Amino acid sequence: MTDAVRPATSDAFPRLVADRGILFGGDYNPEQWPREVWREDVELMQRAGVNLVTVGVFSWSTLEPHPGAREWAWLDEILDLLHAHGIAVDLATPTASPPPWMGTLHPETLPVTRDGVRLSPGSRNQFAPSAGVYRAAAVAIARDLAERYASHPAVRMWHVGNEYGQIDFGPEAARAFRTWLRARYGSIDALNEAWSTRVWSQGYRDFDDIVPPRTAPYLLNPAATLDFHRFTSDELRDCFREQRDAIRSVGATQPITTNLMGFFDLVDGWSWAPDLDVVSDDQYPDPALADSSQTIALVQDLTRSLGGGRPWMLMEQAASAVSWRPHNLPKSPARMRLDSLQAVARGADGVCFFQWRQARAGAERFHSSMLPHAGADSDAFRGIERLGADLAKLRGVTGGRVEAPVAILFDWQGWWAAKEPARPTERHRTLEQLERWHAELWRRGIGSDLVRPGADLAGYRAVLVPHSYILEPDAAAALERAAAAGTRIVVGPFSGVADAHGAILQGRSPVPIRDLVGVSGEEWVGLPDSGVALSDGSRAQILAERLRTDGAEVLASYAEGDLAGRPAVTRHGDVWYLGTVTSDALLARVLDQALEGIEGALGTQAVPAGLEAVRRGDALFLLNHADSTAQVAVPEGSEDLLTGHKTGPTAAIAPGEAMVLIERRTK
Ligand code: GLA
Repeated sequence: MTDAVRPATSDAFPRLVADRGILFGGDYNPEQWPREVWREDVELMQRAGVNLVTVGVFSWSTLEPHPGAREWAWLDEILDLLHAHGIAVDLATPTASPPPWMGTLHPETLPVTRDGVRLSPGSRNQFAPSAGVYRAAAVAIARDLAERYASHPAVRMWHVGNEYGQIDFGPEAARAFRTWLRARYGSIDALNEAWSTRVWSQGYRDFDDIVPPRTAPYLLNPAATLDFHRFTSDELRDCFREQRDAIRSVGATQPITTNLMGFFDLVDGWSWAPDLDVVSDDQYPDPALADSSQTIALVQDLTRSLGGGRPWMLMEQAASAVSWRPHNLPKSPARMRLDSLQAVARGADGVCFFQWRQARAGAERFHSSMLPHAGADSDAFRGIERLGADLAKLRGVTGGRVEAPVAILFDWQGWWAAKEPARPTERHRTLEQLERWHAELWRRGIGSDLVRPGADLAGYRAVLVPHSYILEPDAAAALERAAAAGTRIVVGPFSGVADAHGAILQGRSPVPIRDLVGVSGEEWVGLPDSGVALSDGSRAQILAERLRTDGAEVLASYAEGDLAGRPAVTRHGDVWYLGTVTSDALLARVLDQALEGIEGALGTQAVPAGLEAVRRGDALFLLNHADSTAQVAVPEGSEDLLTGHKTGPTAAIAPGEAMVLIERRTK
């Protein structure tokens, strides 16, 4: 990428939203339908208030049915038709799924699994990210598409590829991995050192001896696997960048994005986000899970945080059921509405779906859509119409920032390293712990940003570290600076364990922040299934640390077994340390202390169970996920943007309902 081909576009997305309001629509695949359906589509889109559709995501074989062909006529026609109906287009490069001929003519473009199986066409996403032929063909079609449509009045956004998430272990990947490693380490000696290859006779003679982490007789070197994760994310990002630059190179000025997938492990969101003009994300909470509104809130906070707090776009969600889980529960139209409003509450300025019209055939024939098989005379479509009307009423909240006094540390490299096999326990999982801690904030109505370890923590009242397995010196220094500035810090177990190569830090743990926490350990131990009793009557689970206090006050200690009498949970000034996985109740008590005086969206009021309260700009979002009415005190005369009604001194939110209040701040 050069600045010459990439004009500053940071305001391109806000300008689009200022022009259109909250973006509302979905993936649209007109090539699967006859012309008369197109006409019905655009009329129904208008009726529902759809203002943006993503076209062309899986159109490669339609656009280029044989090598070098360009079949534009259908696309010309549909873009004109959409424009004539006032519907803007997020035009996709079709590069997520090459046509089958590419695999036939160039088998090296097909990815290879870790077991050496070359995947076949017949599904989608069958490309090897490092295959030169694929890359050149993808750039060529992206450039030609942009050349033809960059100035088409319907095209207001570009969507590169789709859900980048390919992994390849074949010869193409091996070559590219070696190039990546050469650039990272310079010499094979430096690599051998970084990877600690004296273990198990892995010393490399030359970069040419290195292969991707394929299936091997026994455990792989975790440092090599960690680097392969980094490489895979970088390689996919290069695929994205080349197409983005091709689009820019012909003068396109619209915002360019690709749809991320939250905590998806092949793409390091922190390293990708600066390349996106707007961060967009696909979110499919499972309606069967009781806590999915909480866990998706975490994903939304991550998505917003990746963009530095700027508004983001929900690129895909399901209108009702997905079809890819073994058993698929639907969302009611009310739930679909609540989920959509939740995204807006947490910073989205776009609420879109996969997909506009439910597929008649193909692998996703049972996946719900905005317009179901039954057609417009359906509760589902009426729900979509209602949502469209609601989103139009929320135009005033666009651009607003979400209030977030708390930071939660998270990064991909620590997560990758912590997932490697052969550790004290596989039951301690980064994301599970993140979800538990974030849920405590959700319940309190306290907003939080996700922050990459090492980033500036200024401005946050508290920083939570549920599980940062890797804490590099800059991350430890940032925590120390924050603590010195009066920020409360809470650190969870098994943090600060390893360096950037996944090698274990030497000395009493947690090595990089030992002075900060005022407690130190010498061993991590897996706990029996029944856990271990703590002095407060709760039980420690999964993992413990053989700790001694170095000045910290002990809040809970082990009450039985080998660790009896040793600290489990401590406080050192305004720094709390949990050396084990505590019960939810003990975690809540620790956070009650650490968050004391930090007000949530409802100020000092307790948040009724199941009510989600979020402040975005001037708006207070109240989303009732519970089965009973929630009642909260609000400044009298607050206006609900969804109904236009003014409240009394309290607001009562019915089950499954939402309010978006504009109020005078009382604080
Ligand atoms: C992903 C893809 C879509 C579609 C949906 C189904 O998000 O991007 O093309 O397959 O899943 O849920």
